[in-house]
Order: sequence, then C-alpha cells, then structure tokens
Amino acid sequence: MSRSLALVLTLAFAAAWPFAALAQRDLSFDAHALPEQGTVAITVAEGLPEGGSFAAIDARTGGALRRAAELEGFKGKADSLLDLRGFAGYERLVVLGLGKDALSPQALQDAGGRVARAVMRAAGPRVDLVWDGAEADAAAHLAMGATLGQYRFDKYRARKDDDAPEQKGSLVIRTHAGPAGAQAWESQWKPVAEAVAFARDLSTEPANALWPEEFVARVRARAAGLPLRIEVLDVPAMEKLGMGGILAVGQGSARPPRLLVVRYNGGDAGEAPLAFVGKGITFDSGGLSIKPNTNMWQMKGDMTGAATVVSTVLGLAGRKAPVNAVAVAALAENMPSGTASRPGDVVRTASGKTFEIMSTDAEGRMVLTDALWYVQRQDKPRLVVDVATLTGSIVAALGGDYAGLFSRDDTLAAQLQAAGAASGEEVWRMPLREDYAKGLKSPIADLRNGGGTPGAGTAAYFIGEWVDRALPWAHLDIAGSDWASSASPTVPEGSTGFGVRLLDRFVRDHHEGRGQ
Ligand code: BES
Ligand code: ZN
Ligand code: MN
Repeated sequence: MSRSLALVLTLAFAAAWPFAALAQRDLSFDAHALPEQGTVAITVAEGLPEGGSFAAIDARTGGALRRAAELEGFKGKADSLLDLRGFAGYERLVVLGLGKDALSPQALQDAGGRVARAVMRAAGPRVDLVWDGAEADAAAHLAMGATLGQYRFDKYRARKDDDAPEQKGSLVIRTHAGPAGAQAWESQWKPVAEAVAFARDLSTEPANALWPEEFVARVRARAAGLPLRIEVLDVPAMEKLGMGGILAVGQGSARPPRLLVVRYNGGDAGEAPLAFVGKGITFDSGGLSIKPNTNMWQMKGDMTGAATVVSTVLGLAGRKAPVNAVAVAALAENMPSGTASRPGDVVRTASGKTFEIMSTDAEGRMVLTDALWYVQRQDKPRLVVDVATLTGSIVAALGGDYAGLFSRDDTLAAQLQAAGAASGEEVWRMPLREDYAKGLKSPIADLRNGGGTPGAGTAAYFIGEWVDRALPWAHLDIAGSDWASSASPTVPEGSTGFGVRLLDRFVRDHHEGRGQ
C-alpha cells in the first residue's frame, strides 16, 4: 500500500471515531423525593442511623427494610450494597452504604459509581438516586462517580459486547441541594470527570492509533473553545534547542517526537504558573534494550503521565480555575531500528548536561530532562510536578494502590499526600537520598541513565538533576497505578486516568485563590 493511501485510510479511520463512545445515561438533578416504585437507589451511613430515606422506607414497611438488612448482614459500610428486588412495591431498591465518613467526596463518588455499575446496566429506562443531604458539592460528587463508573472504551468493537451497559435511559439524582447541585456538577466537577475520561481514552488507545503527532492532534481538538494556548516543538525546533534527550529516544521511530506545551492562564497576569510535566512514550518497546514480549503490549500506556498532565490542565480550563498552569508532554515512541540510540551513547541535553545511556529502556527519564529544562526556562514556574510511568521498581514496591511520590520539599509532598487522600488517588512518599548519586556516575559523562539501585529512587534522582534545587519539585511514579487489573466503583478495568483527580484536588485545595 502506498504511503499516501495509508495516510488517507488512517485519517478516515481517525475521523470516524473522534472520541471513544461513552455509553452514558442522561444525567439530571431534581428535587428531593422518594419515589414509591420503579428502580430506586438510596444511600445510608454506617450503622443505619435514624432519619432519611432508609428510615422512611423502613417505617413504611413496618420494619421490613431493617430486617432485610440484618438478614443480609448489611450495615451501611463503605463499598457495601443491599440489592432488593420486588421489595415494598419497588421493582428494584438498592441501598448504598456510605460508610462512616458519609460526606466525603470519595464515599459519594463511590456510591455514584456503584449505582452506575451495578444498577444501570440491567435496570429499566430510569433510575432515581435519592440522597438525603443538601450540599451542592456532595450532590455533584454522586454525578461524578456515576459518570466515571460508566466509562467504557468501545470504539473498536463492531458488535456491542454482552457486558455493555444499557445505553438508553436516564439517571435522576434527587437531593435537597436544589439547582446548586446541578450547577456545582456542570461548572466544577463535570470538566474534571471529562478530563479523566480523556486521559483514559488516550492511555487506552493502541500505539498504531496514537503516536506523538496524533497525541497533539487529539489535544488540539479537545482544547477547541477552551482558553488554552498550545505550543508544539517539532524535531527541527528541538534540534535548535539542543534537546538531545528527547531526540535520542525518538530517533529510532518512524514517528517523530514532539514536545507539547499547553498553557492556561486563569489566575493573575504575571503570576508564576504551576508546571506539570508528563512522560509521553506512545509505545515503549525498550528500544535496542528491547523488552521481553510478555506484557509488552501494556507499554501502549507509557504516555499516561503526559495524558494526565494535559488532561488536568484541560480540566482546570473547563472549570475556569483561578490559577495559572502549564502542562508539558514529552512525546516520543521508543523503538529499535537502524537509527535508534545505542547503549553506551552519550547524549547532550538542552541544559548542557550530558548522560551516558546504560539502557535505552530507561527512556522516560531521558525525555523528561529536556521537558523540565524547557518549562523552567520558558515559564518560570513556582513549582513543578512531573508524572511518569517510570519504573517497574515502583510497581514491585507499591502495586496499583499508590503512586510513588519523590520530593525534597516537605510542604509540596504534604500537599500532594493530602490531595491524594482527599481524591482517592493516593500517593506514598518514597526516599530520595543524596547518595543515590553514586549509582548514577558515568566514567565519561555527567551522569548515566540507569544501573543504580533502588530503581525507582535513582530514577527520581536522575530526573531531579534537571530541576533547579531552589524550585519546589515532586515526581510521581505512576507505573502500576496507571492501570487497574480489576474494576472498582469509579475506575473500570484498564487505564485508570490516575493523577487527574489528584492534581485537580492539589490545585483546588492548595493553589487556587490569590497570593498563595
Ligand atoms: N515504562 C517502563 C516502566 C514500566 C514498567 C511501566 C512496567 C509500567 C509497567 C520504563 O520505561 C522502563 O522500562 N523502566 C525500566 C528502567 C530500567 C531499564 C533502568 C525498569 O523499570 O525496568
Ligand atoms: Zn517507559
Ligand atoms: Mn522503558
């Protein structure tokens, strides 16, 4: 097939599915009311306290609801659910446990997600979710959870699979919050939910559909209409700046690397931005230091850090956050070929610092050098957080439960830990010792890119060598947390979009508003 024909087909293919099909039910908010029939979901705090819909149905049924709960061992704990069919005139009554901290965003999002996952797949055209509170943000979190829980990536299926949710129908969220609930959802949380879905879309896309330039195109399409400025450095531009790190990784691929910068200025003019830098390896074969085949396919998701940081800033713009922020995506495909980098090659980065390649599979830290240098020089940020699926070592240490957090700045680390706990996307602080430098010494260059132990810590140390020591910096190693091997209420199996909720929380709680 000729190259141009292949290109036309690729474009047609891409145009047919601009976005992953999101089988989402229509979602709306309405006044609080407890329907007496149909499919209804209610919530209850741990211990099944008096008051609210649970107690109301219990009273109406002469104590039958408490009795049913007792028989099922249901106590309202977080992540528990009582599923009753043909009870008290309801076709289906689902009682969602909210746990002890019944107002936490996490509990509410999980409840929304569980409704989406458990009820909506099978239920009829309409589901009423009744929540007895009045806080607008809390109501919005129910919608957020329901939206995230329904996420699916179906665009490549010719036939709907048996597991697919019922696409027709609606979810009505009934609360005492009034129109403020819908408003909080639309203005504050829906943009974040959409950002998470976008990050998942990008990470799930196979590498024959998503390469550096295509990543840029998707982001451009998504940014249309939002107050964002996009800058893209192509190969000549990167050569001019001497960005040997990212160029060395990209040079083995037929698909050239790109440095993508997305800027959002919702804060005061001239206020130093928050910088988020992401590893964007659209496929990591390992290069000449080639990976074994087992699980190599997962390396289509090695651009998740880039997806996370770009999506976070899209979300900030979508919700008009009063903050200045910049996302940088270091995009390259790591492939073995006659033009690929070799182990032993010495690479000069844009900062002037050099490193010797020990493994072409330690490519994430290579691309991040130039991205970090560029954002420091261009944007003079007040802090920088990089996000990367960086090491197998962090997968071994933390699995999928936490991202590894590395930082020399205790304030920044504490803010990220707090944001992690509040968002449900948790981080675990790891050591970043000065003596890790020993493992990164090269006999002929400033550093070497691998060979040190521990793997995740020395990788973090390497990255930190491209950050001004006076600048607050944190590194999140999301290898492991980027991917879920089984579903949870708001995260289906597969790409998690990890980091978008965390960074949005981080910005919201610690860096919005003037003069912080
Ligand atoms: N992308 C991988 C890390 C990774 C591994 C992510 C498993 C998700 C799941 C990274 O580029 C890599 O290959 N790291 C090497 C570094 C080593 C060669 C110094 C690793 O961790 O083994
Ligand atoms: Zn990698
Ligand atoms: Mn690698």
